[in-house]
Amino acid sequence: MEDQAALLAALRLQIEWGADEALAEAPLGLAVRAPTPAPVVAPMPAAAPAIARPVPPAAQEAAAMAAAVPDLPALRQAIQDFAGSSLRDTATKLVFSDGDPGAPIMLVGEAPGADEDRQGKPFVGASGQLLDRMLASIGLARGPQVYISNILPWRPPGNRTPTDAEMLLFLPFIRRHIQLAAPQLVVLLGGTSAKTLLGAKDGITRLRGKWHQVKLDETQVILALATLHPAYLLRTPAAKRDAWHDWLLLHRHMNQG
Ligand code: URA
Repeated sequence: MEDQAALLAALRLQIEWGADEALAEAPLGLAVRAPTPAPVVAPMPAAAPAIARPVPPAAQEAAAMAAAVPDLPALRQAIQDFAGSSLRDTATKLVFSDGDPGAPIMLVGEAPGADEDRQGKPFVGASGQLLDRMLASIGLARGPQVYISNILPWRPPGNRTPTDAEMLLFLPFIRRHIQLAAPQLVVLLGGTSAKTLLGAKDGITRLRGKWHQVKLDETQVILALATLHPAYLLRTPAAKRDAWHDWLLLHRHMNQG
């Protein structure tokens, strides 16, 4: 029964993505469910050398505020109150999350766009619609199964690409967000999210389709899968083939055992 569900999920994804040819060179063998091995986790990048690099006051403040909050409502308020970034002044609404905290899967994107800024919810525009279709294809939906947030809670003006400094400034908040939402694993959507949370130098082409570990604090790490950003898939349909493999990896992981 489960095998049949997996086959149907695969088929639905291919149809939804407009596939008109085989997506993999070799059969994926979904019909016979072989035991899924424990994910092979890519080694964490070496810790940055302990050279005393001055931490800007705003980053210190973000880290202190994030560490102090006991729960998600307090985290949301802390982000709302944090005055260390001018993004707050130009954005319309704080974009905190969608879905249920405590869901086994947490998706982490980059930054809200115009639609998200208007509605105060992550991934509600065109890339969000593709994301929902991809999730549905493997039997998932935002809600009890999937919780979603972004590294940046504010839309960068004019949808410009966030700077590295902005991503690093908000890193303590998203780390704490993951800790408090307590998923089983996180899916990092796109290169900016993956590089920021993994502290990696590699681009998404190298990071995607592999299991990693995201460091949440000095003692805690969480399993993470990196994949291509839906906005990139909208611009580059040929890359959907790679994304399909990534989502299948997630599907297999969630259905193992
Ligand atoms: N892109 C993102 O990374 N996040 C959103 O919420 C919307 C688009």
